[in-house]
Amino acid sequence: MLIKFKKASDVPSSEITSPSVYLNRRHFLQSAAIVGAGAAFGSIAGPAFAAPGNPGENLGNVNKTKWTQDSLGEKLTEYGPVTTYNNFYEFGTGKTDPADNAKNFKPRPWSLAVDGAVEKPGVYNLEDFLNPHQLEERVYRFRCVEAWSMVIPWVGIPLADVVKRFGATGNAKYVAFETLNDAERMPGQHRSVLEWPYREGLRIDEAMNPLSLLVVGLYGKVLPNQNGAPLRLMVPWKYGFKSIKSIVKMTFQEKEPPTSWNMSSSREYGFYSNVNPEVSHPRWSQAKERRIGDFLKRPTKMFNGYEEEVGQLYAGMDLKKNY
Ligand code: MTE
Repeated sequence: MLIKFKKASDVPSSEITSPSVYLNRRHFLQSAAIVGAGAAFGSIAGPAFAAPGNPGENLGNVNKTKWTQDSLGEKLTEYGPVTTYNNFYEFGTGKTDPADNAKNFKPRPWSLAVDGAVEKPGVYNLEDFLNPHQLEERVYRFRCVEAWSMVIPWVGIPLADVVKRFGATGNAKYVAFETLNDAERMPGQHRSVLEWPYREGLRIDEAMNPLSLLVVGLYGKVLPNQNGAPLRLMVPWKYGFKSIKSIVKMTFQEKEPPTSWNMSSSREYGFYSNVNPEVSHPRWSQAKERRIGDFLKRPTKMFNGYEEEVGQLYAGMDLKKNY
């Protein structure tokens, strides 16, 4: 499938919002001093980019893609439930806990460690690889394994672009992701409901699929803390738990990486976790879902409705075994 991505040079200057919208300059300078790999980014992303600002601030420069509300033809879930009905166990296991307990979390400065089978390993400031001119808005269905769903206008950059810039090598068959592991900043980590840090992973062809998005915002605004600020994954054909929040590390590797929910209960949660109405969770059916805001349930679609885009990734695989 061919998608036209807008390059920075394609964006007229009238579309470029003042850098102050993006950049908390003091934080940027602090983080540049802390993180040594700053010099390396010149070869990766050109000049330092101003990264998105504080949670809730408006994001400029957002290009619409083919994944718009019109193309999806489904109503957006309101901003309220999107930001108050969350799963983020680092801030508590109740649905409203993340919004309540992540209020004081500071997602800046932020760095991402990149290692393993990659040409440009290092520790990067968020600003080093996030070109605001590449920001896209994509309206995706989001289906939680708990059988509720939402439709959310995410803002982010294609994961494939980032993987290409880091230069994943031929040995990179998988990419593993990790969330921040710091119980002082994420108080839910004082409880061992999961083994910390939260871990997730994708096969490299899944990561390179044009649908996979590294998210920095939603509803045209900087990502709220409870939704995984400042950087999270969005893989819309998989159950929500694959979409790891507050990412601090990406490791490119040959072996399938361990993942948090699979480690916690391998019988219930597999590595693939593709949305599949035909494969029940051992404790409940996945055939239907309740869209948040709706009264009646609706049938769940294979690959969450993205079969045309991703079905070929799993050709020949037994999806009952590879759940
Ligand atoms: N990432 C981390 N680090 N910790 C979590 O507890 N929960 C996952 C996923 N990413 C989770 C996480 C689950 S179960 C879901 S359904 C989605 O985040 C919820 O995303 P949302 O709160 O933005 O809707």
